[in-house]
Amino acid sequence: MSNNTRRDFIKKTAAGAAFLASASARVLGANDRVRVGMIGVGARGQDLLKQLLAVKSAELVAVADIYSRRLEEAERLVPGVRKFRDHRQLLDSDLDGVIVASPLHLHARHFLDTIAAGKDLYCEKTMTWSIPEAEQCLGAAKQSDRVIQIGLQHESSGALADTRSWIANGLLGKITQVESWMSRNTPRGKGQWVRAVPADCVAENVNWKAFLDGRPDRPFDGYKFMNWRLFWEFSGGNVTENMVHQIAWIMSALNLPVPTSAYMSGGVFSEKDGREVPDTIAVTLDFPGDVVLTWQSTFSNSRYGLGERFLGSEGTVEHVAGATDMVTGKSDELTRHFPEPVNRSNGSPFTSNTPDQNHMANWIDCIRSRKTPNASVELGYRTAVAAHMANLAYRSKQRVAFETARNMTV
Ligand SMILES: NC(=O)c1ccc[n+]([C@@H]2O[C@H](COP(=O)([O-])OP(=O)(O)OC[C@H]3O[C@@H](n4cnc5c(N)ncnc54)[C@H](O)[C@@H]3O)[C@@H](O)[C@H]2O)c1
Repeated sequence: MSNNTRRDFIKKTAAGAAFLASASARVLGANDRVRVGMIGVGARGQDLLKQLLAVKSAELVAVADIYSRRLEEAERLVPGVRKFRDHRQLLDSDLDGVIVASPLHLHARHFLDTIAAGKDLYCEKTMTWSIPEAEQCLGAAKQSDRVIQIGLQHESSGALADTRSWIANGLLGKITQVESWMSRNTPRGKGQWVRAVPADCVAENVNWKAFLDGRPDRPFDGYKFMNWRLFWEFSGGNVTENMVHQIAWIMSALNLPVPTSAYMSGGVFSEKDGREVPDTIAVTLDFPGDVVLTWQSTFSNSRYGLGERFLGSEGTVEHVAGATDMVTGKSDELTRHFPEPVNRSNGSPFTSNTPDQNHMANWIDCIRSRKTPNASVELGYRTAVAAHMANLAYRSKQRVAFETARNMTV
């Protein structure tokens, strides 16, 4: 989308969202099931669809997608579901809430249209494709009374609840640094995320114009449609795919605002397969209050899985997942606290054991109670801004401050 088109889009959708925000909400009776629709029923959408089907107090009544195959797949999973080729028709239906699981560059459009239609919203992460869109969505959400959950599902984890209480109880002391990392591998010659283009993924079966959504027109490109994650026009790469989950966990544990500045280095080093977004990444985020957060990621080695380490003067919290144990060869997920002997000689290590909440059920419960869900729009905003600051630093090859990033285009 050009800058002008993006600004026009923001102005138009802002006006709509502001005055329509609570237009069509219905009052739910104790026995009413929450009626949900979904925009974008691809890989993640179908995961979320199964999660929703497991929540007994909700039902999936409609889906919208621009690719015929996805509508057929949804119907096989939910016989009788109403199917739309245009998300605006879905939003005209009798629904309480809408799940948005479209590609990143379409989140803001679907977010703003959904709350303008008076529906509650579950929006996949990262909340938006850009900082101006994140500001726009946050502003529209604040003017509405809609219940909004962001698809940062680790916000519902028991380990996060434990980490927050350990920090509040002073078990970590002064935390000045948090390290985080995420690593994956693929067979040689096969790039991470690359999807085959199905034989039916042709112009007749896809509304390509709706996918481009105002970006420069061009002939249908099935590879880009299936592999949108690899291209800046539609994606923010691994920073918006995975870093955002981990920094959300860290930022909400420490209640951090948007970063003051960001730096990111790396490149396309693992598989030079035509992708634009880097596969090898080192990010540094500076926060007010003397905290530095680092995140590293590779697609060429998986031994250390992913994790975060909060380094405090009194203790450490370490969360690790998917790392291959050197001795047993197994991988596990756990969150542990270790005291710092110099400042807490009588402490002993312990492990988090609070169970996780169901993130989807949390949204449905909040639709009834009108409470704020575990992953608020405000956290969606802060984490989107942090992720985009990192990408802007990478693309402009410089350290980027928040105020500069807000006005940058690349
Ligand atoms: N929370 C998580 O752990 C998690 C995991 C995976 C993906 N995601 C997020 O979910 C989103 C979708 O990822 P995916 O892997 O499912 O992508 P995908 O390409 O498999 O699915 C996207 C779907 O959106 C449809 N679509 C495209 N343009 C549309 C439009 N204008 N209107 C309606 N539908 C449209 C496509 O046809 C496709 O079916 C991304 O934002 C991704 O970051 C989140």
